[in-house]
Amino acid sequence: MSDIKKGLIGVISDETKVSEVMPEINSLTYRGYAVQDLCENCKFEEVAYLILNNDLPNKKQLKDFENQEKINRSISNNLKNIIRNYPKNAHPMDTTRTSVSYMGLEDPEVNNNSPEANYRKSIRLMAKMSTIVAASFRVKRGENIIDPNNDLGFCENFFHMCFGKIPSKEVVKAFDASMTLYAEHSFNASTFTSRVISSSLSDLHGAITGAIASLKGPLHGGANEAVAHMIKEVGSADKAKDFILSKIKKKQLIMGFGHRVYRNGDSRVPTMTKYYHKTAKYYQNTELPKISKVLEDTMLKEKNIKPNLDFPAGPTYYLMGFDIDFFTPIFIVSRITGWCAHVMEQFENNKLIRPLSKYIGEPLRKVSNN
Ligand code: COA
Repeated sequence: MSDIKKGLIGVISDETKVSEVMPEINSLTYRGYAVQDLCENCKFEEVAYLILNNDLPNKKQLKDFENQEKINRSISNNLKNIIRNYPKNAHPMDTTRTSVSYMGLEDPEVNNNSPEANYRKSIRLMAKMSTIVAASFRVKRGENIIDPNNDLGFCENFFHMCFGKIPSKEVVKAFDASMTLYAEHSFNASTFTSRVISSSLSDLHGAITGAIASLKGPLHGGANEAVAHMIKEVGSADKAKDFILSKIKKKQLIMGFGHRVYRNGDSRVPTMTKYYHKTAKYYQNTELPKISKVLEDTMLKEKNIKPNLDFPAGPTYYLMGFDIDFFTPIFIVSRITGWCAHVMEQFENNKLIRPLSKYIGEPLRKVSNN
């Protein structure tokens, strides 16, 4: 009982076939394919199919999958009204969590945990998630909800529903790459949460609702928002070094740096940084990448800590025009695929997840009558 693994550091709690993180060779693979390879050679729909089905799709499989995703994009009028009526100052992560929970109430198969039903629900969740996030984005800006356009691919449609227009091919590709890189990352906190919830034989919508609550935290998905706030606060490259030094002096965390598993750099960072720079070039913004570079160099020199995926992803979404409090909901639009794959895997070979704890509270005592 004395061997407590606080934060479950180093604990292997189960097997998985979904993805492998190999920090020693700076590699992340989904179903055996390196993420860098997937980013360069596949679109997000193919990656989503891979994560959910264990193999890349052939042409027909891709067409069927895309079709399923498209026909499931719409959300009910009730849900649209709920989104319109959320408290105005509610955080989009909280409203998205509530919308997913509500969608469970509407889903005819919510309590059917057969592999076939869970697969169908996974597609519905993936398809509707981007509609929910885009609708909340529009409502929060005081704008009307834009319905999905089934003539458009997954990423183009997301831009269409958020902005009513689609940006250049380069920008869509950078967004697509971010979707691929965010899609899956083994037993991180939110994925583990989804598996813990499923392990009691609860339902997929409940597992995803819990996963969203976990992802919200700034030590996990919330870091991409925090990075954008930090870069905004820094303002210009000449202030970036002092900013970091002062944070270090105050022993404060610098968001977008460090990782529980990667101690020598996050394997997704070089690819996302490439697309961050391409996006900055497209928008003719030279200052943001300069700020990032000084922040990164200073952290390396002073603390020997490298950036994680949120570090280049946050400013990329900022350049694209998304409001900062939507960065983590955008992460959900992608990660829903990984979560669903893990929930299905948990159900395939389930064992209730129930660790032990070491009691350190009051010793045994009696209720006094006085
Ligand atoms: N800024 C400043 N110091 C950091 C740091 C950061 N972002 N990340 C780690 N450190 C320091 C810790 O303070 C600790 O120092 P100490 O040994 O003097 O106490 C040391 O590095 C080891 O970090 P630790 O907290 O043990 O790592 P962890 O595995 O528990 O935490 C994170 C990993 C991701 C939670 C942590 O790096 C962090 O909070 N990063 C910022 C949030 C973030 O970007 N999250 C997204 C993750 S993808």
